Amino acid sequence: MLKIVSARDYDDMSRKAANIISAQVILKPDTVLGLATGSTPIGAYRQLIDWYKKGDVDFSQVRTYNLDEYRGLGHDDPQSYHYFMRDNFFDHINIDLNNTHVPDGANPDAEAACAEYDKMVADAGYPDLQLLGIGNNGHIGFNEPDDHFSKGTHCVDLTESTIKANSRLFEREEDVPRQAYTMGVQTIMYARMILVVANGAAKAQAVHDMCFGPVTPQCPASILQLHPNVVLVADKEALSLCE
Ligand code: PGA
Repeated sequence: MLKIVSARDYDDMSRKAANIISAQVILKPDTVLGLATGSTPIGAYRQLIDWYKKGDVDFSQVRTYNLDEYRGLGHDDPQSYHYFMRDNFFDHINIDLNNTHVPDGANPDAEAACAEYDKMVADAGYPDLQLLGIGNNGHIGFNEPDDHFSKGTHCVDLTESTIKANSRLFEREEDVPRQAYTMGVQTIMYARMILVVANGAAKAQAVHDMCFGPVTPQCPASILQLHPNVVLVADKEALSLCE
């Protein structure tokens, strides 16, 4: 079920992922995309921007739902995922910003913010294609290793390993928010197709466990083995333990 596409390097991974996303948008112009933040998908977003500018792909009817957002950050905070998505993607293509959605980290009422997001994603009919990065610890979205798989959007305490991994993007480690709102694993599994991108040796263990380990909430990405339509595009380093 899980198709593995090997890429030479980060650029090759990014182009291959962008090809799959743009094919989806060409085939279904009003596609619902589930989108991800992090360093890994940035290259794919750049490629899609480039193809948009060349007139090859049109986002005017596309709707997007992001996986997660830090709790407590305003939408214009440069560390927020709202900002990240505009800065790295939305501001450079012809998407209607009203059709883009990210959990509302600025709403301190976690229950309301998460319930509202779940309803929006459900009303949209769930993503046709969900883009996913994978954490060094196997997390998807901010669904961290746990003793159960999560269901809908919920508030999570980030693990020390994720806070450390993400602190590279903040001035000081103590600036990294400790909580986030994230789509749940069940919601992610409702997407009709899932595209996972991974690069670098730090992801090798998580990528191996996702593809070949036991299906366990200790590696949230391993649940993807039970999804009927998953493509992993990863570079050689990320695939180094899969050979
Ligand atoms: P990264 O994050 O792309 O910045 O490595 C991936 C993730 O944590 O999901």
